[in-house]
Parts: sequence; C-alpha cells; structure tokens
Amino acid sequence: MGSAEIDSIDLVPCEVSLPGDNLRILQPSDGAELPDDGPVEWAPLVPYWAVLWRSGVALARELAVARVDGLRVVELGCGLAVPSLVAARGGAEVLATDGDPEALPLVERNARDNGLDLATAEVDWDAADELVERGPFDLVLASDVLYERAGVGQLLSLLPRLGHEVWLADPGRPAAGAFVEQAERRWSVSADARDAIGIYRLRIS
Ligand SMILES: C[S@@+](CC[C@H](N)C(=O)[O-])C[C@H]1O[C@@H](n2cnc3c(N)ncnc32)[C@H](O)[C@@H]1O
Repeated sequence: MGSAEIDSIDLVPCEVSLPGDNLRILQPSDGAELPDDGPVEWAPLVPYWAVLWRSGVALARELAVARVDGLRVVELGCGLAVPSLVAARGGAEVLATDGDPEALPLVERNARDNGLDLATAEVDWDAADELVERGPFDLVLASDVLYERAGVGQLLSLLPRLGHEVWLADPGRPAAGAFVEQAERRWSVSADARDAIGIYRLRIS
C-alpha cells in the first residue's frame, strides 16, 4: 500500500496516554472500533497491524521512561509502531518492521506528523537475512507478536542474530509462555508487568 492508498483508508485520530507527553497518531477507523480490551484470545476481523494493542501501549510506556538516546533500535511486527515512535522521540535511531507491508505507510505518516525520524522495512521473521545484515541493534522491541505457535521458533532463531537485548510485551498468550520457557535456555530473562501486560527483558551477556 503506497501513500495514495493510505488516503483511501478512513483514519481517525487517537491519543496514546504516556508518561510525559502523550502521543497523537492516526489509526484505521475499523481498528479503532475494535479496542483490544477483551480476553487475550480475542481476535479482530481487521488486519492485526491496524489495531492499537494493549501490549504496544505498555511497551511504549516502558520506553517513555527509559534512556534510549543514541541507541540503534529495531521493532519486529510493529503494527502501528507506537513503541518505535516513542523510541524515536527519545532520540533512538529506529527501524520499524512488519511482515505486512500495508502497515508501513501509516507508520511513516505518523512519524512525519509527529516530527520524528524513523525508517521502516517489510520483514518476515522467516526471511530476515537482510535485516540481520543491517544489525547488530542495541535494542530489539516486539509487542504482542506471539499469538501463533509458529512465531516461537521463528523468533527464538532470529532474535540472537539481531542483538543482545530484547524487550518483549505480551498479554499472556500461551505461545508467549512457551517462548519465554525456551528463551531462558539462552538468554537471561527478567519479567515485569505494566498495566497487566507482561514485559520481558532478554539479555545475552
Ligand atoms: C497483534 S499485532 C501487534 C502489533 C503491534 N506490535 C502492537 O502491539 O500494537 C501482530 C503484528 O505482527 C505482525 N506479524 C505476524 N507474523 C509476522 C511474521 N511472521 N513476520 C513479521 N511480522 C509478523 C503482524 O503483521 C502484526 O502487525
């Protein structure tokens, strides 16, 4: 979807409440009408990238109070990319990626509208050699990306190739539990919670 096609989507403004300054973005109205406030198995009919998921907001709130200035940051499965936008606002050099190319023009528009500099790329976790070549990154971000079992193996393989520190937010999906259990064999994992969302920090020292 190019910028011309973005113009054909009905977009609505949305204010994301954050520590410090809130963030104003546009999102597809179809996604806005389906807020992610139900059980964790709830699935929208619109594309997943078009919904403002609670995990993305929680991760963005973590980033809003972190020091990210000057860090090279990549986000996987970014969707509306609120964590990427907040990292860019904090002075990080950010690459927001998603396997669905339709997500990316709106990320770029929201960055522009907020006066933020950020790059985007279409990246599927199963075919990420070009992304690995752009690394290593100081920090890898991912929120609500473990809703299918297939993602567990894909991310366990990819993440160590991208960097040594990962922040992952998840609302408690079963695949995320399996992911964390296996990640602990290789990474040091600390678990926290923000707004009832699990925040996992993975490090390889
Ligand atoms: C539930 S949404 C979460 C979006 C965003 N991270 C958030 O928290 O608002 C999952 C996102 O992961 C992306 N995704 C799913 N499988 C993927 C894959 N194999 N490679 C890359 N992106 C993928 C989807 O396109 C979607 O944007």
